[in-house]
Amino acid sequence: MLNKAKLNFFVDAIILVAFIAVALASVILVAMPHEGFRGGRNPAYYETVLFLTRSDWNDIHVWAGVALMVGIVVHVVLHWRWIVRMLRGFVRGGRSAAPWPGEAEPCLAVVTDGEN
Ligand code: HEM
Repeated sequence: MLNKAKLNFFVDAIILVAFIAVALASVILVAMPHEGFRGGRNPAYYETVLFLTRSDWNDIHVWAGVALMVGIVVHVVLHWRWIVRMLRGFVRGGRSAAPWPGEAEPCLAVVTDGEN
């Protein structure tokens, strides 16, 4: 069964992989020549990086970008209550990270050597 922690891990892993793919493809797209097909007269059109053409890297960039945006939206939805509570804390100027209802207060244990 997929609990909340596993779901968060799964969504965040997708965001990480998508971000790496978008970033890598961005760097490659910036570095690769850009002049287009030109009726088959442009040899640069057939250049590859890591066995993929500019058009392939473009597709990777766009679809990894879509996955990244969807992943970020799902991430924000999953943490919406936390975000609202933090913002309320900032606005009220009180404790921003109060425990959830029903959750124990943090335990402050004082350890002494028995002499005081
Ligand atoms: C780390 C963040 C990003 C960086 C650094 C970045 C960088 C770039 C660069 C450099 C280009 C021009 C590529 C070229 O020379 O043809 C480009 C194009 C593009 N990017 Fe991004 N991008 C990012 C995120 C995204 C995201 C999240 C999306 C959402 C889908 C996206 C969608 C596109 C699209 C649709 C194009 C035009 C592709 C085309 O010409 O067909 N990018 N991006």
